[in-house]
Amino acid sequence: MGHGIAEVAALGGYDVTIRDIETELVEEGYDNIEWSVEKLAEKGQLDESAETVLDRIETTTDLAAAVSDADLVIEAVPEQLDIKEETFSTVDEHAPEHAILASNTSSLSISAIASATNRPEQVVGLHFFNPPVKMDLIEVTYGEATTDETAELASEWAESIDKTPIYVRKDVHGFVVNTVLVPFMEEPAWMLSNGETTVRAADATMVYERGYPMGPFELNDFGGIDIAYHFRDASDRPVPPVIAEKVENEALGKKSGMGFYDYETGDGVDYN
Ligand code: 3HC
Repeated sequence: MGHGIAEVAALGGYDVTIRDIETELVEEGYDNIEWSVEKLAEKGQLDESAETVLDRIETTTDLAAAVSDADLVIEAVPEQLDIKEETFSTVDEHAPEHAILASNTSSLSISAIASATNRPEQVVGLHFFNPPVKMDLIEVTYGEATTDETAELASEWAESIDKTPIYVRKDVHGFVVNTVLVPFMEEPAWMLSNGETTVRAADATMVYERGYPMGPFELNDFGGIDIAYHFRDASDRPVPPVIAEKVENEALGKKSGMGFYDYETGDGVDYN
């Protein structure tokens, strides 16, 4: 998600610094942005050259340097509270006083993340959807301490990059979209666990019968099965066994080449 978010910010005219823990990872992120921006340029969907957009993006592995001059910092590190807390604490120490600190979390509490900083009133959720360059919506989510001023600035920023923000004023687990979307992926996963459907049958039903752009298993692979896993694991309900099994085997979907589909052969991986 990090590179997709950086891309839409650069497309919106902002100077962006992307930071990851290793040079190789940050370069991989940049390459993804380059591919996507060049694709948009080829299709005549940019008002400027791909080069102009790409020139707005810098890369680094140094978090303190990355945020030292930022007005807005958007975090998209793994969905583990200890990693988020450590990241926010460092960002808080090095970002300018006026900077807004946002999290792209889809399953953790904004209040908990904000408490790792000395500016919880300036911490907000900016929850993007994958792929950010194609998905219009952004959830602007409040923590307990988030002020209206912070949420409004975050929302105005979302509009300035041509997205549609919606406020989620209570720090509820999963906000609005994932509260609706994760069960869409989980219910057929329970059926698959029980031998009651196949990957292809469930996906075909939703795509061909209901007109969804992706079926539930394809969508889970696309977003990362670990994301759905962490979402449910952080709640008081059980994780469907096939989802837990995929995560245990590091078959996390498209990003690892194997999930409910095998991305080398294109086949659905079934259990019955
Ligand atoms: N950048 C630039 N171009 C891109 C692109 C990208 N990131 N992704 C796809 N494209 C291009 C393709 O290469 C293709 O180009 P071509 O016509 O030259 O071959 C073109 O766009 C169309 O590609 P597709 O045929 O694959 O695109 P679709 O029309 O099927 O749309 C989609 C792709 C928008 C991803 C659509 O399948 C979709 O809406 N899927 C559902 C996505 C969704 O629901 N996301 C939300 C997930 S939940 C989430 O993120 C929250 C988290 O917290 C869990």
